[in-house]
Amino acid sequence: MVARDPHRFVNELDEVAIERLISRLESRAKDKVFTSLFDKYASRLTLPPSAQVLEVGCGTGAMLRFFASRSGFSGKAIGVDQSLPFVEAANKFAQLENVSNKIDFQVGDAHRLDFPPASFDVVIANTLISHVTQPTTVLEEMARVVRPGGTVAIFDGDYASLTYAMPDHDFGHKMDVALTRASFNNPRIMRDLPRLFPEFGFEVIDAWGDAVVEIGKGSYFKSFAETYAPYVSNAGLLSEEAVNSWLTVQRQAMENRTFFASCNYYTYLVRCA
Ligand SMILES: C[S@@+](CC[C@H](N)C(=O)[O-])C[C@H]1O[C@@H](n2cnc3c(N)ncnc32)[C@H](O)[C@@H]1O
Repeated sequence: MVARDPHRFVNELDEVAIERLISRLESRAKDKVFTSLFDKYASRLTLPPSAQVLEVGCGTGAMLRFFASRSGFSGKAIGVDQSLPFVEAANKFAQLENVSNKIDFQVGDAHRLDFPPASFDVVIANTLISHVTQPTTVLEEMARVVRPGGTVAIFDGDYASLTYAMPDHDFGHKMDVALTRASFNNPRIMRDLPRLFPEFGFEVIDAWGDAVVEIGKGSYFKSFAETYAPYVSNAGLLSEEAVNSWLTVQRQAMENRTFFASCNYYTYLVRCA
């Protein structure tokens, strides 16, 4: 078996796995570590009140619900995701939060967006680019559908930096690498973006990195470990026994308040020529 990034191949997953990913996306969107990273770039996006906003790979729509519920937002937010169950969940959550009149969710492929050129003021990819089949095609599509002078925001992890503490360092390193391979198609793409941007007419207007670190308590990385560790053994990268022993150590560390996990995240705000 080979590693198959669950978010890239979400349409091959069974109902239970999809429900697990839906609940992971929703719990992540409420996690204070994650919301602080999102708020940091969202607050720097200057949107005209009637802005047309597109999120590519919107999942359950948590980011767009945030924009749509901003006071004074009278524009339209559109979310595109390849997964019908995710889009259905996104519609349900938007209705529950009374923002469905401001958001449309559609099934679609980030590599072939079904919009005319220059349709949006802002185009967002929030933890999408690390998962897609062909990142440069997705960048090209984002550049096509944003209006000249509009903004593209790309936020994602540099998953080659993902690490959990383990008393056995060699085993810990193997598990870090396996977890990254099992979960992300493009774990190093955020390092490549500055080199790729000029090809698509993107000029960086702001960019920064954040080290997400949990010491003692685990919340963000707890849910990450519980959700994605099983994909390591499913892909045959490490045995089920090894993965379970790693999970046991992580759970114990969380209980004992001796937990440590870390990963770097990067944000690029770019303007399209
Ligand atoms: C980690 S989730 C992020 C969801 C959302 N942006 C968020 O931050 O909550 C990645 C999403 O990208 C979607 N995705 C991956 N490849 C895609 C593609 N080629 N076209 C559209 N969506 C895609 C997945 O279905 C999944 O919903």
